[in-house]
Amino acid sequence: MRPAASIGQALEEVDTPALILDLDVFENNLSVLSESLRGKRVRVRPHAKTHKCPEIAKRQLAAGAVGVCCQKVSEAEALLEGGIEDILISNEVVGAPKIARLAELCRHARIGVCVDNAENLRQIENSGAKLDVYVELELGMGRCGIAPGEPAAALARGIARSSHLRFGGLQAYHGRAQHLRTMEERRATIADASRKVLLTKSILEKSGVSCPIVTGAGSGTFMFEVESGAWDEIQPGSYIFMDADYARNEWSAQLPRFQHALFVLCTAMSRPSPEIAIVDAGLKASSVDSGMPGVWKRPGLAYIKASDEHGVLQASPGAAVPALGEKLLLVPGHCDPTVNLYDWYVCVRRGVVEALWPITARGALT
Ligand SMILES: Cc1ncc(COP(=O)(O)O)c(C=O)c1O
Repeated sequence: MRPAASIGQALEEVDTPALILDLDVFENNLSVLSESLRGKRVRVRPHAKTHKCPEIAKRQLAAGAVGVCCQKVSEAEALLEGGIEDILISNEVVGAPKIARLAELCRHARIGVCVDNAENLRQIENSGAKLDVYVELELGMGRCGIAPGEPAAALARGIARSSHLRFGGLQAYHGRAQHLRTMEERRATIADASRKVLLTKSILEKSGVSCPIVTGAGSGTFMFEVESGAWDEIQPGSYIFMDADYARNEWSAQLPRFQHALFVLCTAMSRPSPEIAIVDAGLKASSVDSGMPGVWKRPGLAYIKASDEHGVLQASPGAAVPALGEKLLLVPGHCDPTVNLYDWYVCVRRGVVEALWPITARGALT
């Protein structure tokens, strides 16, 4: 697909819908994370499932990241193709075709993968792949992962016994905690998770298996993991973009609030009534799984309904309604699935298109 814009164009001239990245804000979000971790003993391995773009991964590495996470083998393939050579697949990889691709990836880069099941571990071991294998803990999110404590330690011992697999450590991510609204709820949930991590580590150590790395944490909680002392590495993804759902969280200086850097540029394409405007960005242009997009810097204007290709904006009494053809910026409700709808970032600095970055892992679902 051709990009919706060309370099040097003014933002207002960009055809819509287009995925806009504000470079000043994006770069500032990178610095805010680095600054907030200054002096802390923790590595950063940002999650590339958020951006799916080697250009962004390179900038995260330049800001101090040790590598990236991916969620899928095909995502890792696209990142490797784009020059990223240290990738943790923070997820389980199941089935012969995917495991064969995983083994191939390991021939070109440092790769890690997670397991939560002895049968899956055996399949990965039989593939002959040489990689770091992490045990994923179920910390209360209700997704993948093995119970902390002895069940997780037994699986880790199985990895440590392998002749060619390395025990990478524990994958400990609590997804549900990220969007608990108050700081106190998030702090308490991560405190509980850290007890489970430490219990598992101590059982492992007693059985003579050292745990090289505990990795996990997202943009909504990472400082709680760092301060617990139980995590060695964090995996924030959304911090670079900051979506409308994350904006609903409570933030404080201790856990910095990142700024909105990702937008969907759209056009008012119809004005069916005095208080309503229809824009050309519906649910195929901005994901609605975590709520409707916000309308950027347009007080009194709400995005109230999305269909495939259309969005309905409603103005409250006295608010300015967009004119036909007027362009507006939307703040996506959820950044990751919105990015996955586009082939290009239109990178803008102070209103001018500065770069076009391909989203090469877009649609990488296998
Ligand atoms: C395993 C894992 N680590 C890290 C993240 C990053 O979280 P966030 O985008 O909330 O920072 C995710 C997001 O879903 C994840 O699944």
